[in-house]
Amino acid sequence: MQSQSEVLQKSEELQTGSCCGTSVELSSVSLENAETIRAEVQTHYGRVAEEHLNGNGSQNCCGSDFYEIEDLSQLPDTAVNSSRGCGNPNAIASLGPGETVLDLGSGGGLDALLAARQVGESGYVYGVDLNDSMLELARRNADKTGATNVEFRKGDLENLPLPANTVDVVISNCVVNLTTDKGKVLNEAFRVLKPGGRVAISDIVVDGDLSGMPVSEKQIRAGLSWAGCIAGALTISQFTALLQAAGFHEISITIEQRYTAADFNGELPPALTDLRPDLLKDLLQRFTGSSIQARKP
Ligand SMILES: C[S@@+](CC[C@H](N)C(=O)[O-])C[C@H]1O[C@@H](n2cnc3c(N)ncnc32)[C@H](O)[C@@H]1O
Repeated sequence: MQSQSEVLQKSEELQTGSCCGTSVELSSVSLENAETIRAEVQTHYGRVAEEHLNGNGSQNCCGSDFYEIEDLSQLPDTAVNSSRGCGNPNAIASLGPGETVLDLGSGGGLDALLAARQVGESGYVYGVDLNDSMLELARRNADKTGATNVEFRKGDLENLPLPANTVDVVISNCVVNLTTDKGKVLNEAFRVLKPGGRVAISDIVVDGDLSGMPVSEKQIRAGLSWAGCIAGALTISQFTALLQAAGFHEISITIEQRYTAADFNGELPPALTDLRPDLLKDLLQRFTGSSIQARKP
C-alpha cells in the first residue's frame, strides 16, 4: 500500500497549481488516490475504535480538552476518551430544544450525545460515520447513556444517508479535513439542511497559505499526516469558497487555537524539523483549530 505521503504527492502531481504552481488543490483528489486516502483514514480510526471497544483505548492528548468537565462527567469514559476532535462544535451551535442535528463523522459519539442532551426529548440527533467499529462504539455509548433521541447511521459524508431539507443544524468535529471531496461534503450538508438551517463545524484550517518557506507547500503537506487531520486541511479562503459554492450565507471562520511543534507529538518530517526554528514556528502556527459557521438561506 502507498504511504499517505506518497498518495498526497501523487495526488498533487495530478492536481497541483492553480495560478502560480504553488497552490495545492485540496477540495478533491483523484478517484484512485481518494480510495487510498479513505482506506488509510478508515484503518486509522477503525483501530482507535477497536481499542476502545476492547477496553484498552487511550485518551487523545486534546480531544476532550475543549469541553466543560461537568458535561463530560455525564458521559461514558469510552465516549470521552475516544474523542478525536479539535474543538467543540456544540459550543458554537447554540442548539435548542426540539432541533434536529446531524453530526458529520460522529466517531465514538461524544458530540452527538452532548447534542442529544441539548435538544432534549423533542429533538433528534443523527451521527453519520463510515467506520463500522466507530458506529458500534457510538451505539454502545448511546446505550450506556440511555439516550433514545440519537441514532448512528453508516454513511459517507459525500453521500449522506438523509433526505433533503430535514436537519436544523449540521455539526462536525475535525472530519472535513479528512475527506477527499470537501466540496461534495459541504454540498451534502447544504442539501440535508432545512432552509434557515446552520452549520457549526470545528476543524483544522490553514490561516493564510503555506508559501514563503524554503520548502514548497507540496513538501510540507506530503510530510504531514492526512489521517492525523493535518495534510488535508483547507485554507480559510478555500473553505470559505467551498461554503459559498455550496450556497451558504453568513459564513464566518474564527481561529480558536494555533498549533505549535508540541502539538505534533514529535511526528514532524525532517523537511520541517530542518527548518530554522523561527520559520518552523511561523509555519506551524498557520495550522489552526477553527470554528466554522454558515447558514442555508
Ligand atoms: C478525527 S475523527 C473525529 C470523530 C469525532 N467527530 C470526534 O470528535 O471524536 C474522524 C471520524 O470521521 C470518520 N470519517 C472520516 N472520513 C469520513 C467519510 N468520508 N465519511 C464518513 N465518516 C468519515 C472516521 O471514521 C472517524 O470516526
